Amino acid sequence: MKILVTGGTGYIGSHTCVELLNNGYEVVIVDNFSNSKPDVLDKIKEITSKDVIFYEGDVCDKELMNKIFDEQKIDAVIHFAGYKAVGESVKLPLMYYRNNLDSTITLCEVMSSHNVKKLVFSSSATVYGSPKNLPIKEDFPLSTTNPYGTTKLMIEGILKDLYISDNEWSIAVLRYFNPIGAHESGLIGENPNDIPNNLMPYIVKVATGELECLSVFGNDYDTKDGTGVRDYIHVVDLSKGHLKAIEKVNSSNGIDYYNLGTGNGYSVLEIVENFSKVNGVKVNYKITDRRPGDIAECYADPSYAKEKLDWAAEKGIEEMCRDAYRFVMRNK
Ligand code: WQD
Repeated sequence: MKILVTGGTGYIGSHTCVELLNNGYEVVIVDNFSNSKPDVLDKIKEITSKDVIFYEGDVCDKELMNKIFDEQKIDAVIHFAGYKAVGESVKLPLMYYRNNLDSTITLCEVMSSHNVKKLVFSSSATVYGSPKNLPIKEDFPLSTTNPYGTTKLMIEGILKDLYISDNEWSIAVLRYFNPIGAHESGLIGENPNDIPNNLMPYIVKVATGELECLSVFGNDYDTKDGTGVRDYIHVVDLSKGHLKAIEKVNSSNGIDYYNLGTGNGYSVLEIVENFSKVNGVKVNYKITDRRPGDIAECYADPSYAKEKLDWAAEKGIEEMCRDAYRFVMRNK
């Protein structure tokens, strides 16, 4: 089977390509390197000893997308490509709506015209907004608090309407919680070029001395220790969830939604403590004001993904912390 992976040189995309190749799939990647580097292609080859077929370009480019589907016999698509920084989306909403919506609509138009109707879509737990209850189940109310999250929610609606218009589609919408960590080889991982928005990449840069001190955004939340609680999931576990989703869209039509989380919530201070313990490094931090838009607590009920996809996360927080640090130390 040949899978097109949009955004396949990105953090989650590259890890998913490794799992696809290691499980006998052929992989075609389209990526414009807006949030990744070309050498990821070499790293994927080094890990798997397999080649991918690569097209450089933008999923919004309909001519390019038609060329890919004309030249490659694509069986299914995993759609990662999109902007994903919450803070940036607040500052540049039009760029987010244009890119994330246009790329998805273009992709679906080209898929439809080539009669390829199996799609796995990269959504986010951010569509649940600030949940009233925990753990979060897929049928919880949906609301968003930033343009990035709203693009994900709007795309979920577009895909639902697409399936209603044509029941030949088979769509799995994966709602990620907080992906962290890196492949055990240390060859691929998350290493943002600028100042990281997310917790783990920031902790890693403080541990390596690249950044001076972690700001803990508030310790006055109604949580176990006052700091924000999230459901951190190893990026390799998350990637394996995509393989299960591909199997699912291959086996039946329809659209369905799956929480990909561990079901465990860790606070910011617990992450700092685990990271320091596992890697034997100090992480300087200070308590600062809350970050606008943050919610107190968020973690998944992953039982539906277990029931329908036969998938569950397996790696613990120690492995996530160890793998995250190994990657950055190997690539300093
Ligand atoms: C985690 C916790 C912060 C940085 C976002 C998006 C989500 C997904 C993952 C794309 C929170 C605290 C963080 C720091 C801190 N992105 N924190 N100091 O906000 O849960 O989710 O990223 O798909 O859609 O919403 O992740 O890592 O930014 O924050 O104290 O320097 O760490 O307050 O409690 P978040 P995060």
